[in-house]
Amino acid sequence: MTARAAVLSGLGGYLPPRTVTNEELSARIDTSDEWIRRRTGIRRRHVADPGVSTGDLAVEAGHRALKSAGLGTADTVDMVIMATSTPDHPLPATAPDVAARLGLGPAAAFDMAAGCSGFVYALATATAALVAGHAERVLVIGAEVFSTVLNPADRGTAVIFGDGAGAVVLRAGTTDEPGAVLAVDLGADGTGRDLATIPDGGSRQRATGREPHPDGHYIHMRGKEIFVQAVHGMERSSAAALDKAGWNVGQIDHVVGHQANLRILHSLAQQLGVDRQRVVSHIEEAGNTAAASIPLALADAAARNRFRPHDRLLLTAFGAGLAWGSIALTWPPITPA
Ligand code: COA
Repeated sequence: MTARAAVLSGLGGYLPPRTVTNEELSARIDTSDEWIRRRTGIRRRHVADPGVSTGDLAVEAGHRALKSAGLGTADTVDMVIMATSTPDHPLPATAPDVAARLGLGPAAAFDMAAGCSGFVYALATATAALVAGHAERVLVIGAEVFSTVLNPADRGTAVIFGDGAGAVVLRAGTTDEPGAVLAVDLGADGTGRDLATIPDGGSRQRATGREPHPDGHYIHMRGKEIFVQAVHGMERSSAAALDKAGWNVGQIDHVVGHQANLRILHSLAQQLGVDRQRVVSHIEEAGNTAAASIPLALADAAARNRFRPHDRLLLTAFGAGLAWGSIALTWPPITPA
């Protein structure tokens, strides 16, 4: 039976032009190209120039997604959701400014912070708004300038993260259309809050009245623990989304996991029983771009003609919070701009 659904109708990605290679990092911290490639799969990451903000990258990706959706100035977007953990300011949210710069005012616009799962959370929220009839068209953007929260001396994080933005347009449609979001699973466990945290800059630091930590505005990550939890968390969430969609593992054409580490993606594939060939990876080029990683991986794979209309995709993410989520959708006949 067909029902109202959110349908993917546009896609765009944007990486800032400047790249930092593993060799460049090796020249200033105790690491090597060999270690980074073997342990993470990353070869380079893109880094925004000083003065370029998350909102700036989001505008670029947003433009491309709107163009890919074939939207003109007369077409309305009712809502802009921006997934990010590196907003332009604590207040106001970045999304209203991005919406205004894209000419989308007075669309509802707000930010969503769910760490590396932010894009999946935002996609789920957009889906709910579309299915409920609160919106007819939604722009969802995942964007980060993560380089602003990286301690350049911390080899556990400096080698992994990068900057970028990816965006999708969703429109109201029906479940039988290619591009329809067919299942959503979300979850969180706040007892794991310390596994990835930026300690300062929020009300907790002021409330305790303690002196700002010298490294408090940098991300602190217990990488190995997150690694293990990420594999299990994405596996459980993927299974839940597949169950809701009524798909079995053998029916998935592509797994688009959060691009944290190639070894995590391969372990996930093994746990799920999915062939590695069906795992989409963009990590070699972009590193971990947090909330931007899934739409960037989608845009890169779509630009390479990897997806065919009606293909079955599983998106899955895990990150700080802890927060995780998975989405099952079919692929629409679109090309990224
Ligand atoms: N270069 C060289 N050596 C490094 C290194 C680097 N950049 N980072 C760590 N090492 C060393 C460690 O010091 C350790 O050395 P030792 O054995 O002599 O003590 C060794 O490599 C192994 O360290 P470990 O932390 O166990 O590495 P790892 O294989 O777990 O890889 C991460 C580290 C961070 C790449 C990995 O844990 C990871 O990707 N975690 C997930 C991150 C994530 O998903 N984040 C989500 C967003 S919050």
